[in-house]
Amino acid sequence: LLRFSHRLFWSFSQNSLSALIDRQRRSGITLLDLTVSNPTEAFTGYPSALIAAALAQVADLRYRPEPFGDLHAREAISATYASHGPSISPARLALTASTSEAYAVLFKLLCDPGDEILVPVPSYPLFEYLAALESVRIVHYRLEYDGSWYIDTDSLRRRIGQRTRAIVIVNPNNPTGSFLKRAEWAIVSSFGIPVISDEVFTAYPLAPASDFISLAATDSPVLTFSLNGLSKSAGMPQMKLAWIAIDGPEAAAASERLELILDTYLSANTPVQRALPRLLEIGAGLRASILDRVRRNLQAANRILGGSNCHALHAEGGWSAIVQLPRIRSEEAWITSLVRERQTIFQPGYFFDMPSEAYAVASLITPPEIFAEGLSRLRQAAS
Ligand SMILES: Cc1ncc(COP(=O)(O)O)c(C=O)c1O
Repeated sequence: LLRFSHRLFWSFSQNSLSALIDRQRRSGITLLDLTVSNPTEAFTGYPSALIAAALAQVADLRYRPEPFGDLHAREAISATYASHGPSISPARLALTASTSEAYAVLFKLLCDPGDEILVPVPSYPLFEYLAALESVRIVHYRLEYDGSWYIDTDSLRRRIGQRTRAIVIVNPNNPTGSFLKRAEWAIVSSFGIPVISDEVFTAYPLAPASDFISLAATDSPVLTFSLNGLSKSAGMPQMKLAWIAIDGPEAAAASERLELILDTYLSANTPVQRALPRLLEIGAGLRASILDRVRRNLQAANRILGGSNCHALHAEGGWSAIVQLPRIRSEEAWITSLVRERQTIFQPGYFFDMPSEAYAVASLITPPEIFAEGLSRLRQAAS
């Protein structure tokens, strides 16, 4: 008798917003898409030839299975950290195919089925899936906004229970753009609970500040895993390479066990690992272009919305702008009317579990002309 796993409890039907967008596109309507978060689509000058050349230069394709990944690749990552901040030893770096996979691996390391992981809200919607696929429960702690975002550390403390196995921090968070501050880190790392710090957007600061933490897995008082990868920091999600930096008092015991998990899959591919030193160089150029675009687009958003009845929330980093709209209609009505009447796609705030309505989330890596036109249409719709 066929029976599927209870981990897959989601509805498999298309949501109404995606269905609307598909219908519009099928009927020949061109939509301005402000949700593009894929750098390989968003940049016409994307360095495909340079990346292909870096792969073509890989002469040695012998397979040497190593649970933590190719040592040269890990040395190159370690050197990149050392060049702009605290360093991390190659021995404390483990490669995976993606940050998403890194989460899965760490949930396997830290949790039994039914155990709990604390995750910020609002945040990135994939956590629900990543956790459920490992039979782990998500418990939310709150981020609050009062002109800038911060962790509600009381809410975090209250949510810690018998089965809490890790605290996830997204630094800076997607989509709120809030960086982890030194004072917050002192509290989060004081509970004795392992921390998973998702640092994929740290290379994209939007506001100057000296108290942002950029690498949690360094001199940490608690077992800490910092996640990063080519996907965001080098603008190369298609290359499928990410890493986990491990630090803290139990790092050695954690590494032994992590080695066994990673040895079971060996999922990071050889060509990308061998080409990594060169990919990181190419990625530095791409990162500079992305940072320039996200900063300009955010400035454009503030300029275009200035004096209107909607505004972008303060963002400290990352690739998203959250625009607050007057609650004269529901968020759903706003987002669908922007598609139907203004031919413009934004992500709704509820997609990220924003605590109230109404918000439209725009990707800051959208090509600038599309971004500016989309925001002008939003302003007109709201006036
Ligand atoms: C906060 C955050 N972490 C991780 C990821 C996924 O990265 P990867 O492509 O390495 O799985 C994303 C993708 O949008 C993200 O927003």
